[in-house]
Amino acid sequence: MRIVSGIQPTGNLHLGNYLGAIRNWVRMQDDAEAAGGQCLYFLADLHALSLPLVPAELTSNTREMVAALVACGIDPERSILFNQAQVPHHAEMQWLLNGTARMGWLNRMTQWKDKAGKNREGSSVALFTYPVLQAADVLLYQATHVPVGEDQKQHLELARDIAQKFNNDFASEAEPIFTLPAPFIPPEAARIMSLRDGTAKMSKSDPSDMARINLTDDADTIMQKVKKAKTDPEPLPSEKAGLEGRAEAKNLVSIYSAMTGEPVDAVLAQHGGEGFGKFKPALGEALIAHLAPINARFVELRQDTGALDAILRKGSEKARELAVPTLNAAYRALGL
Ligand code: ADP
Ligand code: NA
Repeated sequence: MRIVSGIQPTGNLHLGNYLGAIRNWVRMQDDAEAAGGQCLYFLADLHALSLPLVPAELTSNTREMVAALVACGIDPERSILFNQAQVPHHAEMQWLLNGTARMGWLNRMTQWKDKAGKNREGSSVALFTYPVLQAADVLLYQATHVPVGEDQKQHLELARDIAQKFNNDFASEAEPIFTLPAPFIPPEAARIMSLRDGTAKMSKSDPSDMARINLTDDADTIMQKVKKAKTDPEPLPSEKAGLEGRAEAKNLVSIYSAMTGEPVDAVLAQHGGEGFGKFKPALGEALIAHLAPINARFVELRQDTGALDAILRKGSEKARELAVPTLNAAYRALGL
């Protein structure tokens, strides 16, 4: 089992990023190891070129993401943690695969249609072709499993189509160049909503800092944000059904559940009947207990730019070693 997964290096990380993305990576690291496999995790910095970018922010966001991943439990000794830009084999492989990918296949990608919208002429070529880079990202390492959310399923299908056509056109059935990666749906990720409006996603783009818990927030800030979170005046229900139509209450209960590891039913069985004046401090404490160690490590790591760069450098060396045989085989198959 070899799991390959990438994440965009964004800054200003919050509880939604942690529970919706980073924590799954930590779980997969354990699961892959238990199955005798390994995870390769990369920061998709080359993908940032598909949209407008600020170079200095990209550098700083990349470091911030490494610090967050390590603080949250990704162990660079167990998983290979690297960034695409330091493994030029990704870009090289993409070019080889560009010969196999068809314009029609890319034209059908709904992400392309959504992101380009009516501005196809003004979109970067990278926005059109990044699904081929994504194919290169996983095929390069003979990934057996790739975790995909709903919005990325179509791109993994494309990667499989490219791999299959390349194998058919340039390799023998007995010795295919590429492994067809299987999609797998990661364990259900919590979707965390804004603290100011339970129907909006918690997001770094929210203009109000009170709407989100940041990985950089200290204990006092966390407690203050939780106490100010929007709620309705009703006490908590003692069963799940009672949360229907109460977006804010539902969100706070699911955050509590995620922080303590207790299922929502158990949380409600215990706290049902409580008003938010009582439940909010308990939630604040649960958040602080879970996030304080992560926060401390994150703040410490974030200051040590040299150490962060070294993690990526070492990870990239390991990734390059794994990439070389497949890239060479692809060149040979093409007669290059
Ligand atoms: P943001 O919405 O803050 O800009 P991104 O779009 O950069 O966050 O998302 C980065 C990762 O974090 C993605 O995998 C995304 O699914 C996850 N994520 C972001 N916000 C949330 C949220 N509120 N709840 C769950 N997961 C989230
Ligand atoms: Na976003």
